[in-house]
Parts: sequence; C-alpha cells; structure tokens
Amino acid sequence: MNMEHHYAASPAETVALGEAFGRRLSGGEVLLLDGDLGAGKTAFVSGVAKALGIASRVTSPTFTIVNRYTTGRVPLTHFDLYRIADPEELFELGWEEYLSDGGVVAVEWFRNAGEELPENYILITLRYQDEGRSITIQSIPPEGETAL
Ligand SMILES: Nc1ncnc2c1ncn2[C@@H]1O[C@H](COP(=O)(O)OP(=O)(O)OP(=O)(O)O)[C@@H](O)[C@H]1O
Ligand SMILES: [Mg+2]
Repeated sequence: MNMEHHYAASPAETVALGEAFGRRLSGGEVLLLDGDLGAGKTAFVSGVAKALGIASRVTSPTFTIVNRYTTGRVPLTHFDLYRIADPEELFELGWEEYLSDGGVVAVEWFRNAGEELPENYILITLRYQDEGRSITIQSIPPEGETAL
C-alpha cells in the first residue's frame, strides 16, 4: 500500500472508515493520526476499536492522555498527546511498554512526542474538506515492517 485516499461525508462515515481499516490490523501497528482540532481523529480510532472487537465506547483521552482497551482480539492503546509539554513525560505513561506489547497503538497529536516515535508506523491524515473530511492512509516507510 502506498497511499490510500478516502472521503468521509459524515461522522458515521469516519467511524466506518476506521472500522474497515481496523479489520486489516493484526497487532503491533502504530497509527499516527494527523489533523487539526476536531478533524475526526478520535472518531476514526473508535472505528478501529470496533474492528478489534472492543465493545466499550471510545472517548477522547485528552485529560487522561492514555486510554487502554483490553477486551478485543488485541489490546488497543489510545494516546492523545495534546497536553504533553515535554516528550520526557511519555515514559511515566508507559509509552515504551505500550509500543512493544503487540497491540495496536493510536496516537493523536503525535508531534508532541518529538523524537520518541517508532521507525515504522501508519500515518492517517484527516483534513477538513467541504462538509466532511478527506482521510489518507499511508505506511511509513512504504515497505516497512507494519506496511499494509
Ligand atoms: N467526516 C466527518 N464529517 C463531519 N464531521 C465529522 C466527520 N468526522 C468526524 N466529525 C465530527 O467532528 C467532531 C470532532 O471529532 P473528533 O473528536 O473525532 O476529532 P479529533 O480530531 O479527535 O479532535 P481533537 O483534536 O479535539 O482530539 C465530532 O463532532 C465528529 O462527529
Ligand atoms: Mg481527539
């Protein structure tokens, strides 16, 4: 997969795209979600959670920074680094452990992790477009370990 382009006309379509994408995950993938405030990052992750068989409602970890879901076929760790001031704070949150536990890790506001990002990841870019959102999915590097 190089780059996939999608368009979600509604919040439900963003969730559905996350769900379709999530079905392709087997565990160990890191999803970095790029997009402005309210672009739909959390909505997309909630679809991924559904595909992993997680029944609980996915809420934004804006205040808790990390939410863990362990009732699906693989664990899902959902980070929102909006409130991180220094990448050093990540280590107290279990960042390294979660990135290597064989589950799926989804990260909103990943630029606040500075240099602490993995070499292989899937970049999901959400942009406001018309009344909905454009959503692109790409493996970085294109032929990396977790390339889809
Ligand atoms: N395709 C879409 N079309 C229109 N609205 C959408 C779409 N996808 C999501 N939304 C809406 O955008 C709002 C913000 O969604 P969400 O919380 O998922 O964004 P976010 O990127 O996680 O925001 P934040 O940066 O605050 O974490 C929600 O009301 C959601 O329903
Ligand atoms: Mg969010």
